[in-house]
Amino acid sequence: YRASILYCLDEPARVGAAAYRYHEEGLLWVENGRVRQVGDYAQLAPTLPTSVEIIDYSGYLLTPGFIDTHVHYPQLPMIASYGAQLLDWLETYTFPTELGFAEYDYALQIAEAFLDELLRNGTTSALVFATVHPASVEAFFTAAQARKLRMIAGKVLMDRHAPAGLCEEPETAYHTSQDLIQRWHGQARLAYAVTPRFAPSCSPELLDVAGSLLQADSSLYLHTHLAESTAEVRWVAELFPGAQHYLDVYERAGLLGARSVLAHGIHLCEGACQQLSRTSSVLAHCPSSNLFLGSGLFPMRRYQEQGIRISLGTDVGAGTSFSMLKTQGDAYRVQQLQGELLEPMQAFYLATLGGARALALEQQLGSLQPGQEADFILLDPQATPLLAQRYAQSQSIADTLFMLNLLGDDRVIAATYILGELAWKRAVTC
Ligand code: GUN
Ligand code: FE
Repeated sequence: YRASILYCLDEPARVGAAAYRYHEEGLLWVENGRVRQVGDYAQLAPTLPTSVEIIDYSGYLLTPGFIDTHVHYPQLPMIASYGAQLLDWLETYTFPTELGFAEYDYALQIAEAFLDELLRNGTTSALVFATVHPASVEAFFTAAQARKLRMIAGKVLMDRHAPAGLCEEPETAYHTSQDLIQRWHGQARLAYAVTPRFAPSCSPELLDVAGSLLQADSSLYLHTHLAESTAEVRWVAELFPGAQHYLDVYERAGLLGARSVLAHGIHLCEGACQQLSRTSSVLAHCPSSNLFLGSGLFPMRRYQEQGIRISLGTDVGAGTSFSMLKTQGDAYRVQQLQGELLEPMQAFYLATLGGARALALEQQLGSLQPGQEADFILLDPQATPLLAQRYAQSQSIADTLFMLNLLGDDRVIAATYILGELAWKRAVTC
């Protein structure tokens, strides 16, 4: 593939310009679904065997596919629901919608629509909430496997403060989860995440179930929500009077570690920050969702200084776009509201290699290195008339990234490749 090529090898906020490689005239050589070589076109092209076909995407930007580290596939039908903040929003819109996922056929239909949206937005991997129903997980993994996608998902655990159709006994939850783990964890490119919804939905016994599942297999993930709104934080303090703070509820159940991804974490005390950093747990920052639900402003700078691992998520359906470009733009805005800057290359890192690292997938994905899985995308910096005008003024690759984040959306994604095969292509090019 001949194109301009950009990828990170490390984190720009830590190591500066050494963190990324940009080949303005680049070449990506893909063989058997993996990267064989990546570099400058002029150097690499003469070394290719004559049997290798060169696909010319000159004028386009080729990057690793985006990685969305927190998103709910069952919430696709209720995206952009009016007038509520987190706890009301869950009761009014989310729980009624999720009740429908007891039915496999409906779940499969939404899972397919969801994966279509990811691919058209250039997202090639994600950490995904299903619902409490095993059928919702079956449907999701079945759809993801058919498309050869690298996806992580799990059945939601909840046993209180929700409609009866979304609650189950801890004992049942344990066996159902074990069953799904056996069927899907490690199959093809799929992995399982133990997924307690959040502390208010879970009795202490159910959180212990999550802890035992994790203890039995260190390759499982933990995926949940943390300290998203102030009303939620107050509620958790009432429900768990023995805990030192919200995060401590999870720590006591044995849920924290390097494969634990907690969405939001906006309202955290000093003790919680230290616990996150000490356990190498990850916070998935979801700026679009935080703005939509009025949840608060994620203090990224403060967390980074404390050594907390951070990734980026859309959090659809509280997030209002599947686009990781728009999500980077919203992350920039959220930092602006706090008098800070998010540099374009750091935002790009969070959406690619940072996401791979958050999911312990940096060997497989995120930086187009030889041997890595060839999940990549082509971005058209002139996808709309306005983008084309602005692109003509672009001074650097960082400036191009910035304008794509602030002005771009799914129209920018010209093509999405999975394991070196075309999985989605924009219908009309201008
Ligand atoms: N907290 C508990 N459940 C949810 C959910 O579905 N979405 C968001 N944004 N926060 C939650
Ligand atoms: Fe969420």
